[in-house]
Amino acid sequence: MARILVKGGHRLDGEVRISGAKNAVLPMLMASLLTDKPCFLHNVPHLKDVTTTIELLAQMGAEIALGDRLGIHINTRPVSHLKAPYDLVKTMRASILVLGPLLARFGEARVSLPGGCAIGARPVNLHIKGLEQLGAEVDVDNGYIVARARQLKGARVVMDTVTVTGTENIMMAACLARGTTVIENAAQEPEVVDLAECLKTMGATIEGAGTNTVTIQGRDSLEGFDYSVLPDRIETGTFLVAAAMTGGRVHVHRAASHSLEAVIEKLRETGARIETGPDWIRLDMEGRRPEAVNVTTAPYPGFPTDMQAQFMALNTVARGTGVIRETIFENRFQHAVEMQRLGADIRLQGNTAVITGVEALKGAPLMATDLRASAGLVLAGLVARGETVIDRVYHIDRGYENIEEKLRQLGADIRRLPAVEAA
Ligand code: UD1
Repeated sequence: MARILVKGGHRLDGEVRISGAKNAVLPMLMASLLTDKPCFLHNVPHLKDVTTTIELLAQMGAEIALGDRLGIHINTRPVSHLKAPYDLVKTMRASILVLGPLLARFGEARVSLPGGCAIGARPVNLHIKGLEQLGAEVDVDNGYIVARARQLKGARVVMDTVTVTGTENIMMAACLARGTTVIENAAQEPEVVDLAECLKTMGATIEGAGTNTVTIQGRDSLEGFDYSVLPDRIETGTFLVAAAMTGGRVHVHRAASHSLEAVIEKLRETGARIETGPDWIRLDMEGRRPEAVNVTTAPYPGFPTDMQAQFMALNTVARGTGVIRETIFENRFQHAVEMQRLGADIRLQGNTAVITGVEALKGAPLMATDLRASAGLVLAGLVARGETVIDRVYHIDRGYENIEEKLRQLGADIRRLPAVEAA
């Protein structure tokens, strides 16, 4: 399994360009199932989750071709196999996003239940409940969600919990339902808004995306799309934290600063000087050690859970004590135990981590457990003395395009080690 070697102690300084957002590109690829017309996506990041989605669509019968400038052509006209199998769903939970589009266009879908997940239970009950409210009949058979509906009908769908992919699934299905759907307590994440914009270019009528109430007028059919994916706010935030915790500076190009307000505010609290422009962010720590910060994760516009591990890494070397509360996912502190192996002072109690910064971490072999945890461990490696080797880095390739190359551009000493055979 591939590993990453980081030799810590280098202050980051330089420029980096942000890739398209993983959590926007995945639902858009799935949205191509809503139409039999050709679709084209620009600014598609080269990520394992994108490859998995392409494989999923191809298994269903879609024709997919890579175009110029990070583009992908998708033609779902030939799709006939209306199933998302367990072997793909278990590697990428976002596969559940085919459920709404398949059901809405073809009247049926079979999607494997995702099963266990490294960061908690993560059920899909709200996706199912919402689709039932649109008139679908849903059963579970042999580990598969089996959904059927001759014609979905618009309805009022109240989400018990704010769910990002749940909102996206219902929004996509509602585009082909008869009548009006109102989603209440909808997720307001920028990726939900970007998906809505993409769907609108297909002819969908959607209002309120980005607020907690989204209204969709259903249509008989949709056109194809030609759409460019927004920049990844989590990748952006990760580079900003990397620069801040090394006392360095970074100019981030192609960043959507408006989507990162909670993160930027926290970074300012650490003592970073930050300037923003329409598509760039500049952070300068001026060689200082960051101040510890308290963070509580929450649905957008709150502080993103996907930035929690990175801020924990920052707090491990900050001045003072910071408290991190994770309110979105249970069991999302596995990186804390790994950071302790570097000498971090972290006390865990339920969903709370109390981190007291130490002068320096010391390199050690580590194990990545999930995507964002891996990013946190890489950042910790950047400030650890000596060598840190992170195993199971395939997690990081799910959501970060060329992370080691981009960090090297900023002056980090980081490289991928060839896979070793398991003993
Ligand atoms: C999405 C993001 C992920 C991010 C997460 C929270 C994608 C592809 N992934 O994941 O990167 O960490 O949002 O911002 O966009 N829940 C239920 N029932 C459901 C669905 C969710 O109880 O049917 C709960 C979950 O267990 C969790 C909370 O709702 O506690 C939020 O999860 P959700 O927003 O659905 O996460 P994802 O959409 O899977």
